[in-house]
Amino acid sequence: TRTLDLAVIAGDGIGPEVVAEGLKVLDAVLEGSGIGVHTTEYALGAERWHATGETLTDADLEGLAQHEAILLGAIGDPRVPSGVLERGLLLKLRFAFDHYVNLRPSRLYPGVPTPLGNPGEVDFVVVREGTEGPYVGNGGAIRVGTPHEVANEVSVNTAYGVERVVRDAFERAQARPRKKLTLVHKHNVLVHAGHLWRRTVEQVAAEFPDVTVDYAHVDAATIYLVTDPARFDVIVTDNLFGDILTDLAAAITGGIGLAASGNINPTGEFPSMFEPVHGSAPDIAGQGKADPTATILSVALLLRHLGLDEQAAGIEAAVEQDIADRAGNPAPRSTTEVGDSIVARVRG
Ligand code: IPM
Ligand code: MN
Repeated sequence: TRTLDLAVIAGDGIGPEVVAEGLKVLDAVLEGSGIGVHTTEYALGAERWHATGETLTDADLEGLAQHEAILLGAIGDPRVPSGVLERGLLLKLRFAFDHYVNLRPSRLYPGVPTPLGNPGEVDFVVVREGTEGPYVGNGGAIRVGTPHEVANEVSVNTAYGVERVVRDAFERAQARPRKKLTLVHKHNVLVHAGHLWRRTVEQVAAEFPDVTVDYAHVDAATIYLVTDPARFDVIVTDNLFGDILTDLAAAITGGIGLAASGNINPTGEFPSMFEPVHGSAPDIAGQGKADPTATILSVALLLRHLGLDEQAAGIEAAVEQDIADRAGNPAPRSTTEVGDSIVARVRG
């Protein structure tokens, strides 16, 4: 028998509420499988920062590194200055654990309301680079607060970093039925980084002759996501473009209440971390209003990452049924009601 050893960072706002439902569904799907779960809670986020001034210490990182995977709820609080928790906790985790693949699948489940008139079959995955780009904090400002202020945020793109994420995206494209990869960038303006990405895609493509390669500038990609999202299969893109595109991708496939993500370290050197794409939603925290589905689908991604494909598929099928049901019953349900309903379907 096997026991999954997970770290749990419930975090801020609605984080603890949605994580509780995710863990409930995880227990349900493992029932009778002979696989157990052991969770260790890490109290990180706004409360800890208020109490101690700490965001993420070396000791926290050492502790977290011992686990097989991390489940994270949400980080962020309006009472903490902007950037402190985002950079000092969430991005620090992604960088420290070398989560270079930020995996964000988008699927339009039957019955889900979408703002699109005629969406077609929407089922694509964004492979967002997770450790480089404008997120690295390479920049600075001078003459701050004066009319002569200059503020720079330098996008860092290394051949090593681009190549490894592009290769991962090709592998994912090859494993999917449509075998199509779209590079999204802006190489007509960002010529240095853009050409590195383009050249890298061309070179790696030679190893994957059965994968069709496409390219879209990021501005055009936002149009296609609205007018023809079915054209996408695997999108590979940089950290910031991926951040923006995946919010749009969520908006066309039922909203961020459904959008799951994995921050993956494919080498297995460090634990990968799974989290809903949404934030801490302080306006509805503690009210039992948050939709836990994105976290529950993130648990499915976690299971698949740990090789438990059957259990992952079990959760996804249960969510799909629950979502189809929502179409007929538009009455709002509480966070725990959604969790309970998915648990019931997982149990069959
Ligand atoms: C996300 C979030 C984060 C990001 C923020 C909170 C740092 O928007 O996970 O998409 O920009 O990556
Ligand atoms: Mn985002």
